Amino acid sequence: MIIGTVIVAAGRGERAGSPEEGPKQYRPIGGEPVIRRTLREVLNWPRRGPVVAVIHPDDESLFASACAGLSGASDLHITHGGSTRQQSVLSGLRRLRDSEATHVLIHDAARPFLDHALLDRVAGAWEAGLAAVIPALPVTDTLKRATPAAMIEDTVPRNGLWAAQTPQGFVLADILSAHEAAFRSGRSDFTDDASIAEWAGMPVHLVEGSADNVKLTLKRDIAMADEKLSRQPLIPDVRTGNGYDVHQLVPGDGVTLCGVFLAHDQALRGHSDADVALHALTDALLATCGAGDIGDHFPPSDPQWKGAPSRIFLAHAAKIVRQNGGIITNADVSIIAEAPKIGPHRQAMRQNLSDILEISIDRCSIKATTNETIGFVGRREGIAAIATATVVYGAITP
Ligand code: CTP
Ligand code: MG
Repeated sequence: MIIGTVIVAAGRGERAGSPEEGPKQYRPIGGEPVIRRTLREVLNWPRRGPVVAVIHPDDESLFASACAGLSGASDLHITHGGSTRQQSVLSGLRRLRDSEATHVLIHDAARPFLDHALLDRVAGAWEAGLAAVIPALPVTDTLKRATPAAMIEDTVPRNGLWAAQTPQGFVLADILSAHEAAFRSGRSDFTDDASIAEWAGMPVHLVEGSADNVKLTLKRDIAMADEKLSRQPLIPDVRTGNGYDVHQLVPGDGVTLCGVFLAHDQALRGHSDADVALHALTDALLATCGAGDIGDHFPPSDPQWKGAPSRIFLAHAAKIVRQNGGIITNADVSIIAEAPKIGPHRQAMRQNLSDILEISIDRCSIKATTNETIGFVGRREGIAAIATATVVYGAITP
């Protein structure tokens, strides 16, 4: 089972008023756009497969800035929606048809409070053998039918009534053919996908919804969501990464460490300039956003890196960190070498880190130690470096 997700976000949010504030899915709640929260929850769900975001053609730049730096956002497939929700879903399903997805969750961008337990409940129903399933909650209010003049006509028994939520889960091929059939017969007024499945004669089951998983529809809903999130304490998203590297010493005339050439009776062997200190720090930075290691970005087998100055590796890692929304707050490198002496060059090395990382020099630390003549470092067979990077990626709610 490969679970695709379609997130519909092409609506204009007319009931949320204030056209000058823009579509509701891009308005901020708790300091970030509604859709960013929705996408983050889906993108971080371990069982998710391909994800399609269906957006309005006018919202390209709003969408790009709402997703900036969001982990996993680069895997998103983006397509344009239509003038009704039904058309937008169909456009998303058609996009997903060409992927490896076998099942699909269809979710409203305007429901940013979905959680992984809810996603697991829908997927769990598939595993239990059900094909079409939606989360829903029993209606608790007493229901009245009234005239346009607000005169009650009757009370509708709420027994057996449920309020439907999303994500709604289907076998991809089944819901796509139901949608195509509805489209061919000129229907465009279905407000959820279960009703299209029902219309097509598919049995649809209920699983327990989530009381938090409200759809933001009115201006007041957005204000309440913002207020709820603002009450939650924020934790700074401080991440540390470590890196380690060793290069072998061979006869030569000097070594490059932290971009500074130190005259010596040996040289470091390596494909690039073999700057162990910058290599360790590059790995430490990549580690703060799960971006692999230096070898993934600069394969030693690639001839273009032969003799390359390692500052380009470090600058590249810093760029990846920034693209992921990170702010580098500290870079610390320990160089483990019997010789040459690092102390006299420490300031120049720190200055290099400061220049490459574009951070102040007080955030750049270089330390050095010998290995007390023991081990491969002690025997002057190689130089090692250990680095730690600290990066702040905004703030998260607990
Ligand atoms: N939606 C969509 N394309 C449309 C209409 C709606 O993708 N043509 C999406 C919305 O962006 C929303 C979800 O469907 O995430 C649920 O729709 P709704 O709450 O009705 O949002 P809007 O249509 O934007 O709001 P309104 O009906 O108040 O205009
Ligand atoms: Mg609507």
